[in-house]
Amino acid sequence: MYAGSLASEHDTIWLMQQDNVLLGAAVLMQVLDEAHLQNFFIHASHQGQGLGGQLLRHVQQQARQQGASSLFLEVRASNSIALQLYQRAGFTQYSTRKAYYRQPDGSREDAILMKADL
Ligand SMILES: CC(C)(COP(=O)(O)OP(=O)(O)OC[C@H]1O[C@@H](n2cnc3c(N)ncnc32)[C@H](O)[C@@H]1OP(=O)(O)O)[C@@H](O)C(=O)NCCC(=O)NCCS
Repeated sequence: MYAGSLASEHDTIWLMQQDNVLLGAAVLMQVLDEAHLQNFFIHASHQGQGLGGQLLRHVQQQARQQGASSLFLEVRASNSIALQLYQRAGFTQYSTRKAYYRQPDGSREDAILMKADL
């Protein structure tokens, strides 16, 4: 997926790093005024320190500067930390994809589709 994003003229990858250590990353796909957050993570040993909020604000700001008016994403219904982060950053749920994700045990989980106006 990262190789595909690097090759795409529509995608931007931001890396958050300190002293050459990767702390997190965000992958954004943007076409005209619509942007999609394709991937977003903070390294497990650096979570809960506000870095996710910091990186998300940066991505929102950059997408706006690149001409986006809306930012979309999807997240697992059980990912309460990410849901909370996105809600605080101005995202609201606009739809659900039932049983979209497959769990390691074979069960299915809904995807929550969210959107923020930039
Ligand atoms: C979701 C993720 C990016 C958040 O990054 P983070 O740096 O941990 O987030 P922050 O420290 O900025 O915290 C965001 C909010 O979640 C809360 N939070 C963070 N870690 C938490 C934890 N372990 N338990 C409870 N709350 C937590 C913070 O208190 C904060 O809430 P606040 O705004 O009310 O203070 C990170 O947990 C992650 O990479 N998870 C795995 C990958 C993933 O789920 N990516 C999103 C896919 S859509």
